[in-house]
Amino acid sequence: MYSINKEWELLSKINKKEYNDKYQNSIQNNESFWEKEGKRLNWIKQYTKIKKVKYSKKEVDINWYYDGTLNASYNCIDRHAKISPEKPAIIWESDDPNVSKTITYEDLLKEVSKASHVLTKLGVKKGDRVTIYLTMIPELAFFMLACARIGAIHSIIFGGFSSESIKNRIIDCKSEFIITADEGIRGGKKIPLKQITDQAINDLSIKKCIVVKRTNSKIVMKESRDVYVDDVVKETDNYFEPVEMNAEDPLFILYTSGSTGKPKGVLHTTGGYLVYASMTHEYIFNYNKDDIYWCTADIGWITGHSYIIYGPLANGATTLMFEGIPNYPDFSRFWQVVDKHQVNIFYTAPTAIRALMREGDDPVNSTSRKSLKLLGTVGEPINPEAWKWYFNIPGNGKCPIVDTWWQTETGGILIAPQTGAIELKPGSATKPFFGIKPEVLDKNGNILNDECEGMLCIADSWPGQMRTVYGDHDRFIKTYFSQFDGKYFTGDGCKRDKDGYYWITGRVDDVIIVSGHNLGTAEIESAFVSHPEVSEAAVVGYPHEIKGNGLYCYISLKSGSNESEDLKKNLKNIVRKIIGPIATPDIIHFTNGLPKTRSGKIMRRILRKIAANEHSELGDTSTLADPSVVDELIKKRKNI
Ligand code: WT7
Repeated sequence: MYSINKEWELLSKINKKEYNDKYQNSIQNNESFWEKEGKRLNWIKQYTKIKKVKYSKKEVDINWYYDGTLNASYNCIDRHAKISPEKPAIIWESDDPNVSKTITYEDLLKEVSKASHVLTKLGVKKGDRVTIYLTMIPELAFFMLACARIGAIHSIIFGGFSSESIKNRIIDCKSEFIITADEGIRGGKKIPLKQITDQAINDLSIKKCIVVKRTNSKIVMKESRDVYVDDVVKETDNYFEPVEMNAEDPLFILYTSGSTGKPKGVLHTTGGYLVYASMTHEYIFNYNKDDIYWCTADIGWITGHSYIIYGPLANGATTLMFEGIPNYPDFSRFWQVVDKHQVNIFYTAPTAIRALMREGDDPVNSTSRKSLKLLGTVGEPINPEAWKWYFNIPGNGKCPIVDTWWQTETGGILIAPQTGAIELKPGSATKPFFGIKPEVLDKNGNILNDECEGMLCIADSWPGQMRTVYGDHDRFIKTYFSQFDGKYFTGDGCKRDKDGYYWITGRVDDVIIVSGHNLGTAEIESAFVSHPEVSEAAVVGYPHEIKGNGLYCYISLKSGSNESEDLKKNLKNIVRKIIGPIATPDIIHFTNGLPKTRSGKIMRRILRKIAANEHSELGDTSTLADPSVVDELIKKRKNI
């Protein structure tokens, strides 16, 4: 346990008593609590209605601030540009350590206005879906906020996805516009963004493909469909009036993997999402107005949406946007950037921390990091060893660590410490944020009390919650509300200790968190099975030193096909091609059979144990149709 010291208390918005009182009030007087907190935004039409929520196995309908109107881009830009036009909004640090750029709130207003003109000139209207496939360049922020400004719904796809994944996501949300760049740059390497985009869209009916120039390389431009941004609008000082949006109008769609093969288009709306992102950013990161804040995530993930762009900018913060990776040009890069821009608040993922930890302390100790006052982590459970290293070495033993638990679906952080109020325990996300009521349930739906272990649910709605799966509301209900009546089921297992602290133990469904990102086993398995020689595939997670979980893939081949190193390579490539490099399989294990029940269900529990080398803890295998399969699998595992 790391107790609260005077400095951490001073850093914090609140102390222990204030947290307890405010938390109690947020649960007991939920509507009046959120009524007050909603005022942190500028509304065009002030809301009078706060919350209308139906939350059952049959019907789910979530509305917050639903008679209010506002514009998210106005809240993130204009209102700050009026008061402090010169304040840096975005500090952009390029992949190249010698290049960075400061974008003030005034600059941001101009750039986002320009991007809004580009979009509307090309025919994008309120409610249209706009796909964005870019790496971490300022234009990503500009176009994202421009969509919000004109009322279009952005669907951002992380630069590590394949053309096939882009294509599926475009088809799913029926978007007719895509924004990309000639190329992206990461870690000194070029990514052929336009070429990948072309492969995705050449057979689709896309009205416009808008291209940003990042490297000025020569690319193929299809006449009438493809346009360079600068050929549409040249001037940057032509103000664009933000469009009035209802609080419940969609702000964006972001795809996330699920237990079935098809990614889900998680839909977030405008008012509640922004209130929640902004409030959590302020309280959990102890954000103060002169802080330099850096979240190292990619904007292609929810962490980047909520805690690089919407939360910080809604608070008028200075947010750092980094194009590169932690080990380029070398393993000191994060800390060099911290020193260069005098970063105060630093937020990253356990997978990055573990990768850096492996390189030893020297790359950290060669930098000062004096400016740091708070550290954060997100994406997966952080092992206490990595927590302590992060605390002692990069944090010099003085910065509190906020371990933040949340999901794409939750829009913002639900469980995390507030450093003046909650003692830290390495590996625990600690306690809930205001308005969040976690519950731990057993398989039969009984609510467990006090110290316990079970499945994590949230008992009531909060403003930042997703509203639906785009185009498939039934799937939304089925995925999150069908297990436990009247509760949101997170898919995570969790322990609560005697002090009421929450410890997330990992997914209880067929989702694997790899390097802090959600991958669905079904999606990967179907990529394998698309290979003509594969008859069956089962993918499970196994402990991986850096990535948290690696992908362990059991493959059975069709008769007549033989296993070989070449085939392994081809199979890895097929998954990379269909899903993207983020889903690259770690281990391929060829097998003649998979452990199945008599009714034909694959017993993944057994596969997980074998992958983790926990052969002695397989449990009951008597229900297997052919128990000898297990011995064969174990024998082979030993040679992998
Ligand atoms: C899943 C959500 C939220 C942004 C990044 C991932 C796991 C996330 C933590 C944490 C333990 C965590 C959970 C969750 N997770 N943060 N601090 N401690 N586990 O978003 O891709 O939607 O994945 O990530 O299993 O359900 P995502």
